[in-house]
Amino acid sequence: MRFDFETVLDRTGKDSIAANPSEWYGINVETREGFPRIPMWVADMDFVCCPAVTNAVAERLRYPNFGYFEPSDAYYDAIISWQRNRHGIEVKREEIGYEGGVLGGLISALRVMCPDRGPVLLNSPTYIGFTNVLKTNEYQMILSPLKKDSQGIWRMDLEDMEKKIQQYGIRAAIVCNPYNPCGRVWTRQELKDMMDLFEKYGVQAVSDEIWSDLILKGHTHTPTHTVSEYARMHTVSEYALSKTFSLAGIVGSYHVIFNKELRDAVVKQSSYSHYNEMSVLWMHAVIGGLSSEGAAWTDEVCQVLTENISYAYDFITSHFPGVSVMKPEGTYMMFLDCTEYCDRTGTDMDTLLRKGVEYGVLWQDGRPFHGDHSIRMNLAVPFSLVKEAFDRLDRYVFEKEDR
Ligand SMILES: Cc1ncc(COP(=O)(O)O)c(C=O)c1O
Repeated sequence: MRFDFETVLDRTGKDSIAANPSEWYGINVETREGFPRIPMWVADMDFVCCPAVTNAVAERLRYPNFGYFEPSDAYYDAIISWQRNRHGIEVKREEIGYEGGVLGGLISALRVMCPDRGPVLLNSPTYIGFTNVLKTNEYQMILSPLKKDSQGIWRMDLEDMEKKIQQYGIRAAIVCNPYNPCGRVWTRQELKDMMDLFEKYGVQAVSDEIWSDLILKGHTHTPTHTVSEYARMHTVSEYALSKTFSLAGIVGSYHVIFNKELRDAVVKQSSYSHYNEMSVLWMHAVIGGLSSEGAAWTDEVCQVLTENISYAYDFITSHFPGVSVMKPEGTYMMFLDCTEYCDRTGTDMDTLLRKGVEYGVLWQDGRPFHGDHSIRMNLAVPFSLVKEAFDRLDRYVFEKEDR
């Protein structure tokens, strides 16, 4: 490896909730002595940041003035080349717009797609951020559950989605591509079938592609807007560096919208607050990250995540009877289903979650993601910590069959 994915960072006092969540996040942080915390919940990485990002920001900080500015050609060129080289997409400068966070961008798009705050279609289990922003903005959330097929792969249930579109008169849907928390990287055919269904009923889509750079070995990301002409003209695509390079603390994201009318309307919505302005440090983080060195780092991080996920998947399926999980195809999240385990051992979810945390494994309750008996685990930590976490879960947390 050219880059460092091994160093174990102590982020205490370093502006991070990962190892030090406040009570608000619902994680009991009382851990036993001798079991240092391993952060495996919130969606940021516990790796040393990509040097191309830190160097670009440091370089800009060396110039001692931070006045008003306009995004530079280098900024747009970085995004255009990244989309071309990594996703095979040709994007023009005017099709790219700043959003101060993917969730804010999503709300600006929904304000255009359903100005009456009508019902919005999503799949479940559901990323908790979607649930929160839809609730605070008073949109009705219509959930169509994903179903596991005979191979244990999460699939959309198009019949159910169609029924709900008809029943609720749905005009807008949120597509999570790739899918947090289940780790699906939707195939072109799946996305095409979904967009054909949306076309039949005039449903527009916000495609959250924040995870699109973190694709595990053997899988390929398909941008939703590429699957048909309808998709191109009726999708607002949201991108960021928050997941790829773990830059949530620097804040920023961007949309790509090909349809001019839709784009103008979304840009107008997102301008109303007058808050939606880019930071110069974010701009330089983008220029650094979306460079050839950033691409090399991204290739390596995908390799590391593939190995971490494989280790975790093999461990869970061979050591924890009654816990089922789909092997993620993208993202660094695993969504464990502990239903059978809880039934067999008479354990309730609160006890199981608390036990993990007691032994320093900071994992996340899956119930707020609409997953009964589920736990979300983040595998973007150095491999030594992945091994340590699963060793502790095996020794102290999950009961053995013969105990
Ligand atoms: C699917 C998805 N969208 C959006 C976000 C939040 O992105 P941002 O912090 O850039 O708003 C996350 C963070 O985990 C996410 O998983």
